[in-house]
Amino acid sequence: MTRIAVVGSINMDLVTQAPRFVGPGETILGEHFFTLPGGKGANQAVAAARLGGEVALVGAIGDDAFGRQLRDGLAAENIDLDHLVMLDGCASGTASITVAGGENQIIVVPAANARVTPAQVERAHALIARADVVLVQMEIPLETVEATLRLGQRLGVPVILNPAPAQQLPTDWLRLARYVTPNQHELAILLGAGPGEDFRSLMQRAPCPVVLTRGGDGAWYREQGEPIHQPGFKVEVVDSTGAGDTFNAALAVFLHEGLPQAVRKACAAAALSVGKLGAQAGMPRLHEVEHLLAQ
Ligand code: RIB
Ligand code: NA
Repeated sequence: MTRIAVVGSINMDLVTQAPRFVGPGETILGEHFFTLPGGKGANQAVAAARLGGEVALVGAIGDDAFGRQLRDGLAAENIDLDHLVMLDGCASGTASITVAGGENQIIVVPAANARVTPAQVERAHALIARADVVLVQMEIPLETVEATLRLGQRLGVPVILNPAPAQQLPTDWLRLARYVTPNQHELAILLGAGPGEDFRSLMQRAPCPVVLTRGGDGAWYREQGEPIHQPGFKVEVVDSTGAGDTFNAALAVFLHEGLPQAVRKACAAAALSVGKLGAQAGMPRLHEVEHLLAQ
């Protein structure tokens, strides 16, 4: 079993299904409303656990009803929560999501996630030392992302940095990552793309290996030389929320099989995840990924 440590965010997703997105000052009638567990860190932890990883999550929730619900959901997925803290007098993170026509718009309020500190990562030192792979995203403070990258480097544990939501990062941080896994938009912001610079040339000037996700078009990956394309799997899209998280989790779980195979399985897992509403509902189990790949 691959041991995976995730350092990241935990949100309650407040999901509205609507016929279309609203403009400023506009009110429309939506179709459905759901509260569903989410947050990039939690999503990656859940997806990795369903794919057979042995997963621990380092993160924070508030001492509110959402926090308790989120914690119970993670526990039910067999995720080690020894380094999950519940913060007194603090709200849990939320994401207000509109889903329309298979696309989404998201506003995240970090709340408790803003208090995942470098010290908390240091306290998880022994856990991270035992991990085969660490996953980290950017819904927690950037200084904590940096601390995670530096600890992974110090301990010789590969860190996959999912640079989402998009932000520019110092080049020397990127050198600490085993892989960065942006989508096209995130890659452009991460590296400060010049006008007209396309994703292939950005991948080539990145200071570390890049695995780029391209939605239905699959993924591109590069360790050295020319970027290589892994085509996507054709599926019907209900809700793409959490597809990137599923991709990252699968990449971590299958990394020991080599990058090309891990990317292929990650594309398959991500494709399966978009068939259901909600970030975590469609996240596949290992046998479902194998079934899709055997077709
Ligand atoms: O990556 C998807 C996640 O981003 C959602 O679950 C939402 O919580 C936002 O953080
Ligand atoms: Na989904």
